[in-house]
Amino acid sequence: MRKVTVVGAGNVGATVANVLAHKDFVKEIVLVDIKADMARGKALDSFQQAPIDHYSTRMMGTEDYRDTANSDVVVITAGLPRKPGMSRDDLISTNAGIVNAVTRSIMEYSKNPIIIVVSNPLDVMTYAAYKVSGLHSSRVIGMAGILDTARYRAFLAEALDVSPKDIQALLMGGHGDSMVPLPRYTTVSGIPVTELIDEERLNAIVERTKVGGGELVKLMGTSAWYAPGAAAAQMVEAIAKDEKRIFPCCVRLKGQYGLNDVFVGVPVKLGANGIEQVLELDLGASERAMLAASANEVRNTMDVYDRL
Ligand code: NAI
Ligand code: 2OP
Repeated sequence: MRKVTVVGAGNVGATVANVLAHKDFVKEIVLVDIKADMARGKALDSFQQAPIDHYSTRMMGTEDYRDTANSDVVVITAGLPRKPGMSRDDLISTNAGIVNAVTRSIMEYSKNPIIIVVSNPLDVMTYAAYKVSGLHSSRVIGMAGILDTARYRAFLAEALDVSPKDIQALLMGGHGDSMVPLPRYTTVSGIPVTELIDEERLNAIVERTKVGGGELVKLMGTSAWYAPGAAAAQMVEAIAKDEKRIFPCCVRLKGQYGLNDVFVGVPVKLGANGIEQVLELDLGASERAMLAASANEVRNTMDVYDRL
């Protein structure tokens, strides 16, 4: 892939850029921030790591969107993170202004990029980037499901004392405490997780996952970046290499799961064209109800955005 732009050179943005540089399949990464020298410094530091870790990816920092021209993929991480006591939705008015402005600037210089949104509140900021960019909905994708699922997989690996590599799982719904874990679709190297762990311990892990972001905010005074950065980089990789990977991502639904015109996390096929398919699972009644409730919460926040 020729060019990836990462907007926001803070904790998450710098991590996305650094993880991507290590993967060594992007020719050039442009790191944009209103704190231009911070972006320049992190890009330079990251490039100076290249001789040590053996990669060729070039990286530059800037505040000038002309440098982002003709990006293939743009990852938007600009915006305030959560502080202790804040919900993701508390960030809406500030971050909506930032994501709107960033998207406008990106579209001025790149005609048909794929945009991956990370800024919170995630589902609504994905909606914002979709609305402002005018791109087809298959090209505007929110990152949350890979992270939430990774937290769930990590907790399970710890509880079962097995490698996190062997846990396959899926979470759906909005990136909030109403996310919908699906133990029915969780396996350990193909073994249904319910055969390996009792219901009570599994439920405790599900509940911990739902507030997994908040747990880190409490510990660090700001939100997480290593796993979020790696998750966004994994999405870029699936697109760049046309891998057609199946990931939970936040996308605009058009009737799937009985939901219309709402941005919510569902399993999708991710390849060179962005979202190439939304996979529609045969959910049980209670799973469907949880998904509808989660989508409803997102819709209410989308309405708040529309009224701003
Ligand atoms: P941070 O504060 O470390 O970095 C944010 C960066 O955005 C700062 O460097 C700031 O200067 C920059 N920025 C602000 N306005 C800008 C603008 N108009 N143009 C360009 N850059 C601008 O925050 P962090 O930890 O990197 O988080 C970034 C966002 O990602 C937050 O909204 C956070 O809630 C969200 N997040 C989402 C996750 C997800 O799963 N979707 C996971 C973790 C964080
Ligand atoms: C996270 O889940 C706060 O959305 C951020 O870590």
